[in-house]
Amino acid sequence: MKKIILSLVVSLGVSGVVQAGSGDPQAGKEKTAVCAACHGPTGNSMAPNFPKLAGQGEGYLVKQIQDIKSGERKVLEMTGMVDNLSDQDIADISAFYASQAVSVGQVDPKHIALGAKLYRGGDVDRGIPACSSCHSPTGKGNSLAKFPLLSGQHPDYIGKTLRDFREGDRVNDGDTKIMRTIAEKLSNKEIDALASYINGLH
Ligand code: HEC
Ligand code: HEC
Repeated sequence: MKKIILSLVVSLGVSGVVQAGSGDPQAGKEKTAVCAACHGPTGNSMAPNFPKLAGQGEGYLVKQIQDIKSGERKVLEMTGMVDNLSDQDIADISAFYASQAVSVGQVDPKHIALGAKLYRGGDVDRGIPACSSCHSPTGKGNSLAKFPLLSGQHPDYIGKTLRDFREGDRVNDGDTKIMRTIAEKLSNKEIDALASYINGLH
């Protein structure tokens, strides 16, 4: 498993280099007026079901907006909002959010033990890899490899997203089904613990 993960990191890392850094954050800020209503002016959304975008990796943001635009990732709330964005607009908007600092929450004490155990060590017997191996021990992710930042993200959104991957309602994690394969093995209790742990992780 370690070997597979390592080769994934390397191959995704190489393909991620091309796009990163091509956006202009200042120009991007001006293109986010409509987004701010849900995601907040600096990408730190207040509503628990609207994901924070602040501090997120630029390459990951570009990929998600492209996926939402193409319909590969379905976000009903954003219907029609990204259709008219050009590749340059998407690069600029992504650069803007990537340049902002994410606000971090607090782990619910009842979730620390299980959340920390799974996040840092996975569960070898059940074939669950450590989340930290891709999303980093502090949850900042791996920007070049497009492994998203998780640190500070709303627990409601993390929980919903892991369930979406598990039920096959979110399918844009590539042919290798990286996240679907992992989420399939997680119980609701484990998802709740991970979601709370990630919110306070930094
Ligand atoms: C009406 C509310 C709303 C507006 C306005 C909106 N979004 Fe979203 N956005 C959402 C929701 C809800 C999700 C998460 C859907 C899900 O659960 O998968 C999301 C997800 C995203 C994601 C994926 C985040 C991640 O961590 O994977 C990105 C990127 C994004 N939006 C960018 C934008 C941009 C850019 C705009 C403006 C052009 C915008 N959004 C406008 C509600 C909104
Ligand atoms: C082998 C690498 C790898 C491992 C291990 C891994 N992830 Fe991921 N994760 C990814 C990738 C790649 C994506 C982005 C998929 C995409 O492009 O939509 C992702 C996306 C996510 C997202 C969606 C983030 C967002 O903003 O929408 C969550 C939540 C997540 N992972 C949680 C976890 C948890 C919890 C674990 C451990 C149980 C874990 N991941 C283990 C690679 C990994």
